[in-house]
Amino acid sequence: MRLKDKVAIVTGAASGFGEGIAKRYAEEGAKVVIADINDKDGERVVEEIRAASGAAEYCHTDVSRGAHVKAAVECATGRFGGLDIMVNNAGWAYSNRSSLEVSEEEFDKLFAVNVKSIYLATLHAVPVFRAQGRGGVMLNIASTAAVRPRPNLTWYNATKGAAVNITKSLSLELAPDKIRVCAINPVIGETGLMETFMGMPDTPENRKKFLATIPLGRFSTPLDIANAALFLASDEAAFLTGVCLEVDGGRCV
Ligand SMILES: NC(=O)c1ccc[n+]([C@@H]2O[C@H](COP(=O)([O-])OP(=O)(O)OC[C@H]3O[C@@H](n4cnc5c(N)ncnc54)[C@H](O)[C@@H]3O)[C@@H](O)[C@H]2O)c1
Repeated sequence: MRLKDKVAIVTGAASGFGEGIAKRYAEEGAKVVIADINDKDGERVVEEIRAASGAAEYCHTDVSRGAHVKAAVECATGRFGGLDIMVNNAGWAYSNRSSLEVSEEEFDKLFAVNVKSIYLATLHAVPVFRAQGRGGVMLNIASTAAVRPRPNLTWYNATKGAAVNITKSLSLELAPDKIRVCAINPVIGETGLMETFMGMPDTPENRKKFLATIPLGRFSTPLDIANAALFLASDEAAFLTGVCLEVDGGRCV
């Protein structure tokens, strides 16, 4: 049990990478708060974790709203007695298209869900980490988009560039408190966002175009991301901070 007795919040855990992370954490002994706006699937993930003898709670959380993020942290401390791992995974993107065609509303939503969320998580999780006096881990799910951007996703790519920069900057600021801050940069994966990133119908022909850009020849899976997230959150990674780990089958080499 690599996360025995740890308490984690995973945002965007009702589907995709977040669901994979939450389930993997629970398998390894963590008590997990599923924080999402998709109540139906969030509750489903909780039921599935409990059915596998894990511990989980659902908390309806819009990560772009301070009061919601505060409530998610309070859910962790109230229900499970503390907080050790904050995974900022919830994300949103507009459909792949010219950067001149993205509306101001879409731009604002993008930065609210993908960037402001990390600011809010910092405001509400870090004081708990500090008060507990046993360090903590913040893990941001950024993207290869931060390192090797694809065209026609410019504003989305910028939010992930911000997530990487925030990760490095916060890792320095919080190191004296033994709070580690790391990121994962996944390559395109088979989740709810895949077609959005592709900007074309999800057909075998179109998939081939993207697969050709990934040296190991496949898309990332929730389990790939979850295994990396497990390692980075565990004590095995005790000396790692500011690390932004590509989980990308060689895409960024
Ligand atoms: N799938 C990919 O190809 C890929 C690649 C690199 C990075 N990412 C990143 O991985 C993360 C997870 O995305 P995914 O691919 O699993 O997609 P997904 O759509 O399957 O999951 C995203 C989850 O976030 C939730 N969410 C959206 N807005 C929210 C909000 N305001 N508050 C709370 N929850 C919200 C959704 O309900 C959903 O459950 C995102 O940050 C995404 O940018 C995805």
